[in-house]
This record gives sequence, structure tokens and C-alpha cells, in this order.
Amino acid sequence: MEIVRVTNYEEMSEYAAELLFRKVQTQPNVVLGLATGGTPEGTYEAFIEKAKRNDLDLSQITTFNLDEYEGLASDHPNSYHAYMKEHLFHPLDLKSEQTHLPKGNAADLEAEAKSYEQLIEDYGGIDLQLLGIGENGHIGFNEPGTPHHSRTHIVELKESTREANARYFENKSEVPKRAITMGIASIMDSRCILLLASGERKKQAMKNLLEGDINETFPASILRSHPYVTIIADEEALSAV
Ligand code: GLP
Repeated sequence: MEIVRVTNYEEMSEYAAELLFRKVQTQPNVVLGLATGGTPEGTYEAFIEKAKRNDLDLSQITTFNLDEYEGLASDHPNSYHAYMKEHLFHPLDLKSEQTHLPKGNAADLEAEAKSYEQLIEDYGGIDLQLLGIGENGHIGFNEPGTPHHSRTHIVELKESTREANARYFENKSEVPKRAITMGIASIMDSRCILLLASGERKKQAMKNLLEGDINETFPASILRSHPYVTIIADEEALSAV
């Protein structure tokens, strides 16, 4: 596990964007695993700027997102589909065939989870997975207690997660109670992983991640057993370590 300590959110975003940029440059047909939330917004912004400035060829990349809320159609403003379109896909003019997210409004969510997992496999797996981390250690929407062998599946969101994400909705009651997420095993299959953490809010999570035991109570802890993980975290996020 490589830990890159940066000063602040801007530096974290710039560093992560540079890694993403180099990855696409050296492997134009890369399969990227993408994340949502406040953490990667700056990374996407810096990546878009670099890609445009350097005329980066993005025509062969494929992307898979970690998760989506249950019941939200892709054009719902709070869906992760909408987030990705706004923060990355539209600014980069990626074709819809290049980008994938689980469909939270699929009629049969179980079937959707299976076919999403299969699609990732059909593309040969994820080369680089970008991750944020929840305050309770969740990655994707894999809440505490999720089995390490889990694949893409439906989850009940913890109340604390719904509260943490309520800032994106009118109020907490609008935050869906369930979501569809890549599983822990799906994430661990990625050839390399880039986890970003910024701010005081994440300091306990970073302490648990770096110093705690590997167990299902703290989902992100499994990353310690992955051979290629880079963590880019700022001083506030690392202030308890
Ligand atoms: C959500 C997402 C996670 C994300 C986490 C942290 O629950 N499903 O993928 O890592 O929130 O979000 P933020 O980056 O806004 O702190």
C-alpha cells in the first residue's frame, strides 16, 4: 500500500488526475472503475482540464461505476448517472457505449446485478479503480458487515450513510433506502486501486484503514490485502494516523 500525503483537497485532486491521465496515455483502451461523492469531483475537474489541454485520446476507454441508488432513473438529478454525466462524461464527450453504471431502476435488480458483474468480466476486468471512503469505512455502497466474497448486489443503506449523503438531496427522507453496488470481491479484482480521502471528516476512517484489523466490520480494511493500492490523502484526513 502506497500512501501519498498531500496538503489539501486541491493537491489530492491534481495528483489523482495526473495518475489517471498517465494511465490513459499509456493504456488507451484502459477500463476505469469510477466513484461518485464529493471526493472525486476535483479529480474529475482536473482530469478534464489535462485531457483537453493535451488532446488526450479517450475514444477507447471504458468506464464502470461502483454504484447507483435504487429506484432513481438515469435522468433523475440525484442519480449517480446524472452526477457522472455532469462531472465527467459530458465534458469529455464520452459515448454512452463507453460508460456503464448499474441501473438502479431496473425492473429486476438481482438480474441487473448479475449482468453488471458479467459485463465487467466481458471487458476483461477493471484496470484502475478509483475509490472514496465512507465515514463508516464503506467503499462503493458496501456497508459494514458486507462479506468479503460479495459481488455486485443490492444493499440496505445505513442511516448514517443516508444522513451523510442527504446533502445532495432536498432532505434526508428523499435519500433512497437501498442501492446497487459492486461488491467487495468485485472491487478487489481490480488490477490497481486508487483511494482518495480528504478532510477532517475522514480522519477516523483513515486511522481504521491504516491501523485497524482487516475485517468485515470496516469494509475498506480489506484493501490492505490488495497488492496495488495507492492512497492519496490530505493532512486533515491523516491527522489521526
Ligand atoms: C457514497 C458513495 C461512495 C463514496 C462515499 C463518500 O456513499 N457511494 O462511493 O466514497 O459516499 O462520499 P464523499 O466523497 O462525498 O465523502
